[in-house]
Amino acid sequence: MSLTDKVIIVTGGTSGIGEGCTRHFAELGNKVVFASIQADKGAEMQQELHAAGHDAPFVETDVTDDAGVANLVKESLATYGRIDCLMRNAGAWREGKVTDFSDDDYNLIFGVNVRGNFLLLKHIVPVMEQQGKGTILITSSVAAFIGFPAHALYCASKASLEALIRCMATDYPGVIRTVGICPGTIDTPMLRASCAGWDIPEDELLADVAKKVPVRRLGSPEDVAKAAAFLLSDDAGYINGSSIMMEGGTLALPPW
Ligand SMILES: NC(=O)c1ccc[n+]([C@@H]2O[C@H](COP(=O)([O-])OP(=O)(O)OC[C@H]3O[C@@H](n4cnc5c(N)ncnc54)[C@H](O)[C@@H]3O)[C@@H](O)[C@H]2O)c1
Repeated sequence: MSLTDKVIIVTGGTSGIGEGCTRHFAELGNKVVFASIQADKGAEMQQELHAAGHDAPFVETDVTDDAGVANLVKESLATYGRIDCLMRNAGAWREGKVTDFSDDDYNLIFGVNVRGNFLLLKHIVPVMEQQGKGTILITSSVAAFIGFPAHALYCASKASLEALIRCMATDYPGVIRTVGICPGTIDTPMLRASCAGWDIPEDELLADVAKKVPVRRLGSPEDVAKAAAFLLSDDAGYINGSSIMMEGGTLALPPW
């Protein structure tokens, strides 16, 4: 595994999948600049990681704020002089059919999940071009490929990332490698929030979901972090412009 001694930015790095990635990349010996809107959690994690001997500063950043994103890139460069990898992972989720959503819902989901990607790429691509090398991993979702009931906004936002990943591969050949990762059902605060509104207790509902996944369990942030570390490493150097599924075989199931 060649993911060590790299400078890696992780967005949404203080919860769920992003937290798992921040911790795993730091444990592998990388310098991890992790960012999110959770200032208190970020400060706590930074202190804990530092005490454990890791080099992982937190930068409070809203990925929908152009100036904040520019600052994240600037601070990472000022501290380490280079940015080898970006894990663009921050995400937002809302339920709803096309008849349900408000402008606020639209702006949140497309703002964080789509515009938040474009802003980061706008600021980081020139850095990687100047370095002559860089790797970008975008957290997409199986929702890009499945029409989950009452999830039109979320699914559409993730599907647009699949197009973005392909375009990145064609626009920066030989310099930037861009890959997507498509988690399925990963046990995180976002997944648990999606259980609200069901008349079954959360743990029962998730146990029932786990029984339907071909590997017979939910995924963990660590499952995603291990695959992400491989995808960001030079060992995955021929994977570019496409996404890897991380869904325990759910997509292999027959539709009825
Ligand atoms: N959990 C799953 O089953 C699952 C499945 C497929 C895809 N995903 C995707 O994985 C990613 C992480 O999801 P998770 O389940 O770990 O969720 P989570 O809610 O635990 O974490 C989301 C992270 O994004 C950050 N964030 C939200 N809005 C932000 C903003 N405007 N600026 C900066 N940071 C912001 C939060 O602070 C948090 O750190 C998301 O992109 C999500 O769509 C999750």
